Amino acid sequence: MWMGVTLSCGFVPAWCLAFHKRMRCRWKSTLCRWRMVATFLTPTFVVFFFTLLSQQPSDIQLSREKRETLRKPILPTNYTKNPYNISHPYDINFEELLIMKDSGQEIPLTPLNAHPFKYILNPSNVCNDPPPKNGSLFVLILIKSAPDNFHLRQTLRMSMEKNPIEQDYVRIVFLMGTSKKEHNKNVLIENALYGDIVQQNFVDSYKNLTIKTVMGYNWAVQHCSNATHILYKDDDFHFNVKNLLKFLTNHDHPQSMLVGYRVDKAPVMRHPASPHFVRKEDYINKTYPPYLAGGAYVVSMDVAKRFVVAFPFVKYIAVDDSYLGIVAMKLNILPQMNSDLFSFKDCKDLDSKVIACRGYTSHKEVFSAWKMYVKRVLSKFYI
Ligand SMILES: *[C@@H]1O[C@H](CO)[C@@H](O)[C@H](O)[C@H]1NC(C)=O
Ligand SMILES: *[C@@H]1O[C@H](CO)[C@@H](O)[C@H](O)[C@H]1NC(C)=O
Ligand SMILES: *[C@@H]1O[C@H](CO)[C@@H](O)[C@H](O)[C@H]1NC(C)=O
Ligand SMILES: *[C@@H]1O[C@H](CO)[C@@H](O)[C@H](O)[C@H]1NC(C)=O
Ligand SMILES: *[C@@H]1O[C@H](CO)[C@@H](O)[C@H](O)[C@H]1NC(C)=O
Ligand SMILES: *[C@@H]1O[C@H](CO)[C@@H](O)[C@H](O)[C@H]1NC(C)=O
Repeated sequence: MWMGVTLSCGFVPAWCLAFHKRMRCRWKSTLCRWRMVATFLTPTFVVFFFTLLSQQPSDIQLSREKRETLRKPILPTNYTKNPYNISHPYDINFEELLIMKDSGQEIPLTPLNAHPFKYILNPSNVCNDPPPKNGSLFVLILIKSAPDNFHLRQTLRMSMEKNPIEQDYVRIVFLMGTSKKEHNKNVLIENALYGDIVQQNFVDSYKNLTIKTVMGYNWAVQHCSNATHILYKDDDFHFNVKNLLKFLTNHDHPQSMLVGYRVDKAPVMRHPASPHFVRKEDYINKTYPPYLAGGAYVVSMDVAKRFVVAFPFVKYIAVDDSYLGIVAMKLNILPQMNSDLFSFKDCKDLDSKVIACRGYTSHKEVFSAWKMYVKRVLSKFYI
């Protein structure tokens, strides 16, 4: 009975007052005063508590409407016909190319980029075993790594192991080329333990990043096409899966996106000493079309599939993120800017809303920051 009284008190104050009166309990008495205040406030807390609880699962569960649209591709934007008037081979209509590919026709063009590399390591079961949950978000995290960055990979693996719920919705894969003999041996051992490394037989170097990026897309489309999204990132970026899933769940058209930290009108580096040096013969324009900074961004599977069709016919340049900007332009896709969620300055917001960020320069700093972050997350979930 007291339960009923307590609950109804907050909702029907007049009835509640009458009840207290009947129980000869008056405001003048201290005990009664406390009891009245308590019975008034309890329902508020109950409602508040249930609201909190009921909001938790919505992080991952999608509405039926969203589920149905998830795999229906639309173009994220309409950025009609090369507004930058940038010439880059091939200068053809790539939308027609996509249509030809969809209808199973041969594409009557010679590929401009050879990709003759073979897989050394190919964990082709990562996305099917265990199978993803049907009709929900499923994110593949592709991480550009280098053979000797074992410590960075460990911190990222560690953070995933501690989030068992999110493992249902997320898979991690590291992308690598080859390196010196002793490093390669270690990579083989590491892969035997974790089975999460995709490696092809090109030399792992900064100038070969475009090859690595293309390898990642090709692998994802071939072996992980069940993923609805890809978080593409460098191995020195931290990420927050919970925030990522929340962002995708609340997105208006989750099935079609290319979003990250957008760079507009970036100048092309013409000095041979620059790490981003590109010759005029390889790219003629003075500026790049809008592109997403390569440190971390999210791309939906339908956009990734378009990229994979276009790659052989858009001439490679060595700067991988600018290259993707050119490919996006060819496909008439304008990358979307979200500087709140993709931070290139500091990681202090990682708990609140940020999806990925870089804030540390030395490997040691990255490692200790990750340990602290994981500890904080754990204390929230399990204590
Ligand atoms: C793109 O623009 C064309 C005409 O400008 C319009 O018909 C089409 O619906 C637009 N597509 C999207 C996805 O907004
Ligand atoms: C695009 O650039 C070419 C030269 O590269 C020029 O001939 C052409 O007029 C330009 N078109 C527009 C619409 O600016
Ligand atoms: C290079 O891009 C700019 C816009 O960023 C455009 O005005 C110019 O015509 C382009 N030049 C060439 C040679 O395509
Ligand atoms: C997934 O759901 C679709 C319909 O929503 C159904 O046709 C399909 O059989 C399901 N697949 C599995 C593996 O449960
Ligand atoms: C890129 O990889 C290819 C294939 O292994 C290699 O021949 C080339 O030297 C590499 N380029 C650089 C700059 O390391
Ligand atoms: C995932 O995709 C693979 C092919 O890439 C397919 O064989 C498998 O049935 C798919 N699984 C689900 C659950 O859709």
